[in-house]
Amino acid sequence: MTAQIIDGTALSNQVRAQVAVEAAALAQQHGRKPGLAVILVGDDPASAVYVRNKVKACNDNGLHSVLEQYPATLTEAELLARIAALNADETIHGILVQMPVPKHIDPHKVIEAIAPEKDVDGFSVRSAGELMSGLPGLRPATPYGCMKLIESTGVPIKGKHAVVIGRSNTVGKPMALLLLQAHATVTICHSGTPDLAAHTRLADIVVAATGRRNTLTADMVKPGAIIIDVGINRNEEGKLCGDVDFAAVKEVAGYISPVPGGVGPMTIAMLLVNTLEAARAAAA
Ligand code: GUN
Repeated sequence: MTAQIIDGTALSNQVRAQVAVEAAALAQQHGRKPGLAVILVGDDPASAVYVRNKVKACNDNGLHSVLEQYPATLTEAELLARIAALNADETIHGILVQMPVPKHIDPHKVIEAIAPEKDVDGFSVRSAGELMSGLPGLRPATPYGCMKLIESTGVPIKGKHAVVIGRSNTVGKPMALLLLQAHATVTICHSGTPDLAAHTRLADIVVAATGRRNTLTADMVKPGAIIIDVGINRNEEGKLCGDVDFAAVKEVAGYISPVPGGVGPMTIAMLLVNTLEAARAAAA
């Protein structure tokens, strides 16, 4: 059996097209496009690519965007002052500070400085609490995108056994909560889990978010399972790969998201969705 490939690029294009239609309608009603501000501090090359892609996605889909780039010497106070100014800026509905920030800046302080209604990353304590409590709110874009990929298979999530590998605040934990909200039975595994395979072999859905390639191999997968790969790694040849041994696992799984072309494009699409939602809430 060969798995169906879950095409994140195609799905993200659908989501982005829908955002563009709705953003245009909102702009017509309220005279203002949804606006996203992206702040990059320092010169990490991978972060620079990510923020460029986010800003380009805004521009390609009718959203207003601002990119602010600062040297790594920017002080925490200066960054907080920029966030305060953007909080007060009516043309900006979402604020994203690309992580990681330089070591002399406290990321928690930065996240909490963003007005909660503009927290389009969904990283703030309030957004996390809303998700935890099952209240409406802005959901972190990567796990939100993973949910859309899982839903795109048409397989009902309710009653399924989902295993999330990884427990980060940005992916693993919110992913587990979103699956729980969709009535899956959820297990969270991590670097301290003694026998990972014993868990994944029982899973109907696996979301791998460890940042380690070959975290999930074919012998660890239940035939027919849905496999979502959040990893962005490089193999020995320098080629982009995920956390899943894609070539072997696709022969066992029912559905599998590739890297690249799976979760990555969906993360950007869901950031646009969140910015649209934040703009809608501001206009209401
Ligand atoms: N760094 C890597 N992924 C992300 C993300 O989704 N949001 C922010 N702010 N920083 C990141």
